[in-house]
Amino acid sequence: MPPTLTSPLSASAAATPHATTTHLSIDGVTKRFGSFTALDNIALEIQEGEFVCFLGPSGCGKTTLLRMIAGLTRQSAGTLIQRGKDISTLPPQARDFGIVFQSYALFPNLTVFDNVAYGLRNRRVARADIHARVAELLALVDLSGSEAKYPAALSGGQQQRVALARALAMEPGLLLLDEPLSALDARVRGHLRSQIKALQARLGVTTIMVTHDQEEALTMADRIVVMNHGVIEQVGTPAEIYHQPASAFVASFIGTMNFLDVTAAANHQVQLGNTVCDCLPHTFAKGRPAQLAIRPEAVALTRQPGALVGEVTGIEFLGAFQRVSLRIAGTEQRVLADVPSRDSAMLSLKLGQVVGLHLPGDAARLYPAGSCQS
Ligand SMILES: Nc1ncnc2c1ncn2[C@@H]1O[C@H](COP(=O)(O)OP(=O)(O)OP(=O)(O)O)[C@@H](O)[C@H]1O
Ligand SMILES: [Mg+2]
Repeated sequence: MPPTLTSPLSASAAATPHATTTHLSIDGVTKRFGSFTALDNIALEIQEGEFVCFLGPSGCGKTTLLRMIAGLTRQSAGTLIQRGKDISTLPPQARDFGIVFQSYALFPNLTVFDNVAYGLRNRRVARADIHARVAELLALVDLSGSEAKYPAALSGGQQQRVALARALAMEPGLLLLDEPLSALDARVRGHLRSQIKALQARLGVTTIMVTHDQEEALTMADRIVVMNHGVIEQVGTPAEIYHQPASAFVASFIGTMNFLDVTAAANHQVQLGNTVCDCLPHTFAKGRPAQLAIRPEAVALTRQPGALVGEVTGIEFLGAFQRVSLRIAGTEQRVLADVPSRDSAMLSLKLGQVVGLHLPGDAARLYPAGSCQS
């Protein structure tokens, strides 16, 4: 008997987006291509209804991990459990996911309707159900009325929305997105970003999106998995990743970060040039060289020079704030400070001006020396 489609898409799972049952468990997953290790002992749990982003530089293994979850690439070691079932050795067609790739990958010789209906037809869903479901999916991605068009007649953003509708057609338990927005121009990308986010929240479908765009990850994800060279550097909410980076790599990859060469002093202090500054508690031995990381927006400037003094070497107007470059007196080190436009008027900053520099200790984190260039 042909399978029938159960609940309407718009009502599925929407009530449980924050349930905490595990959807996917990845354990000890390693992938080698010859002698090259693309993924090294990955462990990760993804909760039901979560929106997770894999974020990292080119070549860090994001796509490989996503393809492994889909069964398109076989891991060299490790297991994958989806909703309690071991899927480690299952072929893609026996796994429960929908996928959207970076390039649109629609069938060019099929209409929008037929592209979206493709999987449903393969599963021999009844014709009337297919029509109803395709109409519903196209409404969901704002493309009602485009049924008869061919992909070539659609913009990039429209094609990606068709690809999204097609991926959702079988009501997959897991939606996999590999850089679905990266081929689009900035404006379309921003719009589609919020559309995908809203759609995911409404459907409650567990979603993994690969991106190397930190802004995309920070705005869309419930949790971000930061990857580098085939390992996971940190897993956390956008706020955790931004405010409490677990490594110098994460600190430098997300947002803008100042890295200052310092020497460790007491367990919550460092020496910067001749000045002792507060920082978050650390375990570095006294006298050990280290790097102090602090965000430009945490650096405060004052009219009156204090213990630390900086000379303004550049001012960049960025609308809501000014990004001020300074050279720290007594050192050759440079630091960026983001000054809200309101305050910068009060400081009336000019090139060459000497100002007080304050590095709040609760925003200054210590990493091993040589971790990063700012
Ligand atoms: N089939 C393959 N054979 C050999 N090496 C591969 C293969 N697929 C991927 N790699 C290598 O594995 C590493 C990870 O590749 P992957 O495509 O997962 O990176 P990525 O994080 O998705 O990068 P990007 O942001 O550029 O898409 C890269 O060094 C890549 O060259
Ligand atoms: Mg990739």
